[in-house]
Amino acid sequence: MTQIVGRQRELAVLHDCLARAEAGRGQVVGIVGEAGVGKSRLLYEFQASLDPSQVTWLTGHCVGYGQGTPYLPLLDILRTNFQIEDGDNPLQIQEKLRQGVHQLAPALEGILPSLRELLTVSGEDEALKHLSPKEKQQKTFEAMRTLTVAGSQRRPHVVVLERLPRLALPALPSDLWASLSRPSSTPTMVST
Ligand SMILES: Nc1ncnc2c1ncn2[C@@H]1O[C@H](COP(=O)(O)OP(=O)(O)OP(=O)(O)O)[C@@H](O)[C@H]1O
Ligand SMILES: [Mg+2]
Repeated sequence: MTQIVGRQRELAVLHDCLARAEAGRGQVVGIVGEAGVGKSRLLYEFQASLDPSQVTWLTGHCVGYGQGTPYLPLLDILRTNFQIEDGDNPLQIQEKLRQGVHQLAPALEGILPSLRELLTVSGEDEALKHLSPKEKQQKTFEAMRTLTVAGSQRRPHVVVLERLPRLALPALPSDLWASLSRPSSTPTMVST
């Protein structure tokens, strides 16, 4: 990779946002610009400037957002968070989820059905059967929020949503934002 040119101001803004998040005020940052202008590189430089033991860095890719599943970026984030690999079978995935949630806070086990359903192909979870699709969606976002809030109490989380379609930005506050960025120390970076 070539030497970074400029972007000191943008990096300083990101550091400011992280500092505010560390102080308990979660931040949402939109990084918008033409293809190739350096959005991903800026995030790369920001991540490289941080002590990896001080932040949890989670990236979700939104390619296909709105076409297939609105949960696509959440899947990436969950896979990273629970160290789930491509070859893992449903049982292994469930075990990683169970252990991960238990480590974070045993009281959070109520969110496991939503996480299981998101991440495994095992079809509908027993515990969610009686819910309407809308209720299930709410439960899913609630689970993500619970998880992020619990995790970010340990150390700040930076959640990056790469290639979020611009059209999705205005629609987000009501769902994804609500799930990720309510009172927590979670800065969320969006790159479109
Ligand atoms: N400030 C910079 N100094 C040096 N090189 C840069 C800088 N910003 C970006 N680049 C380089 O330019 C190329 C494109 O940047 P990058 O991939 O970050 O763009 P992008 O905005 O994320 O594009 P896309 O919208 O296609 O995802 C990369 O090779 C990157 O390393
Ligand atoms: Mg990019």
